[in-house]
Amino acid sequence: MGKVLVTGGAGFIGSHLVESLLEEGREVVVFDDFSTGKMENLPENSRLTVLKGNVGEKERVVNLFDSFKFDTVFHLAAVASVAKSVENPEETHRTNFDGTMYLLDCCLKFFVSRFIFASSAAVYGDLPGLPKKEDDPVKPQTPYAVDKYASERYVLNAFNLYGLKTSALRFFNVFGPRQDPFSPYSGVVSIFVDRVLRFLNGENVEITIFGDGKQTRDFIYVKDVVKALLLVEKSEAAYGKVFNTGTGKETSLLDLLKYIENIAGKIPPVKFAPARKGDIKHSCADISNLKKIGFSPSFTVQEGLKLLFECE
Ligand code: NAD
Ligand code: UD1
Repeated sequence: MGKVLVTGGAGFIGSHLVESLLEEGREVVVFDDFSTGKMENLPENSRLTVLKGNVGEKERVVNLFDSFKFDTVFHLAAVASVAKSVENPEETHRTNFDGTMYLLDCCLKFFVSRFIFASSAAVYGDLPGLPKKEDDPVKPQTPYAVDKYASERYVLNAFNLYGLKTSALRFFNVFGPRQDPFSPYSGVVSIFVDRVLRFLNGENVEITIFGDGKQTRDFIYVKDVVKALLLVEKSEAAYGKVFNTGTGKETSLLDLLKYIENIAGKIPPVKFAPARKGDIKHSCADISNLKKIGFSPSFTVQEGLKLLFECE
């Protein structure tokens, strides 16, 4: 049996996927440029090979496929920060779009059986209508979202055009251990939890809510994202298809904070600031398609938060 390639495997979601793949007994190769990924996110394991490299460098990608025989590719490497893509569209495009093209091309040339792509709920933009279904209209409003949408289409078309068994997952708001809280555009859960932990350590910090706190998101615990990735990989019904990956439930920021307070006992002072420009008021996934192939989330937001606090 060939190996599994995880691009972006040293990152937040990728490292959890790698853990589960190793638990399944598989041979895993991580390919990551360590721009945001970290070596310490990854376990020591004789079945794990970690390589430093950039998916946006075609020769390097071809080299990689020359050196290993892959059965399955999970393509998670990306500049995951929308803000960075807005600041630097050309450079992020090289990773977020060109990288996908190079990997797809290699999968065809080197007869890889399965290709799974990490897309994003960002493709829906701010169009009204919830919960979002996969065939709802899209409105990718940032370089990040455009690259995700274009990549996703190339990935799915590769099944119909060339018979490569591809699938894509549109992740909603993922949270869990190892998510980086240090950018102002980091996931809100990681920021809030970081502030609470610092507050409990006696630091003088506060939590900022942009807007009235009634905005909602479909927060999904990272282990459930991994569950979805592995389920999709193993499902023939998933070939050539895209799947919303959320829980199907909306949680407001005010409720999120309440849940955090219940777990932590106390939270720092909360400050309200004007809503962020372009902020989406509500977001929620329709996950019927993922359910049809056997998915149900194992963790509620509260359960995920509890586990996150236990890890910190
Ligand atoms: P992350 O930044 O922790 O992971 C991305 C990984 O890709 C990092 O390890 C980084 O070093 C690596 N990488 C970046 N550019 C690279 C390049 N040119 N070559 C090789 N490796 C490169 O972010 P994450 O949250 O774990 O995101 C994983 C994937 O999920 C990304 O594709 C992201 O767009 C997507 N996604 C995440 C969320 C979320 O809520 N976190 C939501 C939607 C989609
Ligand atoms: C998420 C993505 C973003 C993408 C968007 C598309 C993440 C981290 N971000 O943004 O890349 O463009 O989906 O749908 O996955 N907030 C606060 N205080 C804070 C931080 C955030 O109130 O300190 C608010 C934000 O204004 C927002 C909500 O919390 O209303 C969620 O923010 P965030 O975690 O950044 O996710 P999205 O805005 O959904």
